[in-house]
Formats: sequence, structure tokens, C-alpha cells
Amino acid sequence: MKKRVLSGIRATGRLHLGNYLGAVKGMIKLQNDPLYECFYMVADAHTITTPFNPNELKQNRIEIIVDYLAAGLDPQKVTLFFQSQVPQHFELAYYFSSVVSIARMQHLPTYKEKVKQYPNANTMALLNYPVLMASDILLYKADFVPVGIDQEPHLEVAREIARKMNQIYKTSFPEPQRFATQGEYIPSLKGEGKMSKSVEGSYINLTDSLDEIRKKIRSIPTSTDVGGPIIGGIKTLFILSEIFLPKDLYQEFKNKYRDKTLKYVELKDALAQAIYDELKPFQEKRSQIASDLAYIEKVISNGAYKASEVANITLKEVKEKMGLF
Ligand code: TYM
Repeated sequence: MKKRVLSGIRATGRLHLGNYLGAVKGMIKLQNDPLYECFYMVADAHTITTPFNPNELKQNRIEIIVDYLAAGLDPQKVTLFFQSQVPQHFELAYYFSSVVSIARMQHLPTYKEKVKQYPNANTMALLNYPVLMASDILLYKADFVPVGIDQEPHLEVAREIARKMNQIYKTSFPEPQRFATQGEYIPSLKGEGKMSKSVEGSYINLTDSLDEIRKKIRSIPTSTDVGGPIIGGIKTLFILSEIFLPKDLYQEFKNKYRDKTLKYVELKDALAQAIYDELKPFQEKRSQIASDLAYIEKVISNGAYKASEVANITLKEVKEKMGLF
């Protein structure tokens, strides 16, 4: 039996470098390994857990599918779908909610952060976010979840739910593990916190031009003297450089830093060029795919069909074991 993989990205806008390095790269790696069967969705229903605009959501969820395809996910190998088109996710989440305490959800750091960010939108949907995410994963009995390290608290909830369901109802859910990439935590361009769509100036979009990338990389704060502790913006620079620059060039810049001979602008411009070189094929493919709406729609409807087939099997098992069938 192949191991199952599930992942998803919310439809909050264009993907940034953090999404690509922390999630999409892992998704691609597992797609290309014949030992895995992969389900990758657009978490469009999770998008409504914070304030949103329906017209933008409608467009953004398609954009994520286009991003997936342009990044190299292949619908011949993996199932790509919209979460909301497989309503079994919501049904299973409701059953799961009966084994989760309100207090456990209220104490999650991700929940607290969002409430702080949107104090007027402290909704049931937001509180329920991790339960729906556990349902996304366990509906497919996924063993692996390619996501960034920020999602670890949610995976812990999914494992707890799996254990509880197995214990109480004798279901057979696996305890899903995170599939980590080298870029599991991409820091902000501002030098503090993580790269995030909700922090202006913190991110590089996958569709940014070379000029935009250069401007953004040059803006990374590096005011401290060369050769001191690698913190703040300097740390961001070196983390990105380790990922994008050839090993010997990265080492050369590090040595120069240590020897206090580094000119930041040289490192920054080399890094900007290397990021752009990696993104260029993605950008070219993206505009090609975006113009073929019929193809995109076919991918999405096939995906919903294939995902539903698996979802129904799990849901049937759960309903039977809970006395609901
Ligand atoms: P979302 O849309 O917030 O983030 C999408 C993915 O990008 C990763 N990520 C990062 N990785 C490294 N460094 C960063 N700075 C960075 N910023 C974002 C996130 O870790 C994530 O993998 N809850 C999920 C969506 C979801 C899901 C699921 C994921 C819903 N159901 C089931 C997996 C399985 C989320 O917040 O995505």
C-alpha cells in the first residue's frame, strides 16, 4: 500500500517564497516518489476563518491551482482539488468536534495570534480551524503532511484527534507527521518574525520581477557591522543564501562576512539574481497555464471526483463506528 500525503494552502492571494519553500517544494518532492499517493487541495473553506472578500476568494482559489500547476505539480500524478467541493471534509470535522475541548482550541498559539490580529472576528469558524484541518488530513488517512514548521501545533491536534477516535471508536487513523523541507521556516525580509502575507514588506511573491526582487532583497536591514553575530536581517540574508546560492559561493560570502570584507550589496544582488533564476521557469509556465481556463477547470473537477471517492470510504467507516450509519 502506498503512503498517503495531504496538504493545502489557503486562498488568501498569490503565493510567496515562504509558501513555496516550506510547503510546495515538499509537495513536489513527494509527488515524484512512487511510494506516495498525494492529495493537494486549496483550503478555500479555511480562507473564511478570517475576514475575506467573496469575489477575491473566487479568483484566488483558482490562482492557487495555477500556482500548483506552474510549480510543477502534475495532475496525472497527484489529485488537485478545492476543499469546499468535497463537503465530506465538513461532515468529518463535525464528528471530530465531539472529541475536542473548547479550551484546547482556545489555547493554541495560532488561534491567539489571529484573534489579536482580528479582534472583531473571533468566530466559531476560527476556533474550529484546527478541527477542520485534522479532518482534511485524516479523511485521506494521510501519513505525511508537507507544511512549514508554523503548522506543527495543528498537526499535534490532528494526532490527538486520531488517537482519541481510535481509542473511543476503534477507527484506524494514522498519526500524521510533518514532511519538512530545508525552508521549513523562512524569516521575514524585515529581519523579525516569519515571511507572511499579512505583514507588508516581509515577503517576495513568486511572480515578482527581477527588479522587484532586487529592491526587496536590498531593503533587508543589515545596518549592524559586518562580522558580528548573525541575527535579524543578516540572518534572513544568510538563510535565503544557503537555500538559493551554489554551495561554494555561499561559503565564500560567509568567509568574507567572518573576515569583515563583505559588501552587503554584492551578496544581496547575487541572492536576488539566484532567486529570480529559480522563479523564472515558474513565471513563464504560469502565464501559459493561466490562459487555459478549460484545462484548469477540468483539473479541478477531476480532482474533486477522485478525492470524494477516498473521502466516502473513511466517512462510512467513521459513521458506522459512531452509530450513525
Ligand atoms: P497557509 O496558507 O497559511 O500557508 C501555506 C503553507 O505555507 C507555509 N508557510 C511557510 N513555510 C515556511 N516559512 C514561512 N515563512 C511560511 N509561511 C507559510 C505554511 O506552513 C503552509 O504549509 N493551515 C494551512 C492550510 C491547511 C492545511 C490543511 C495544510 C488547511 N488544511 C491540511 C495541510 C493540511 C495554512 O495555514 O496554510
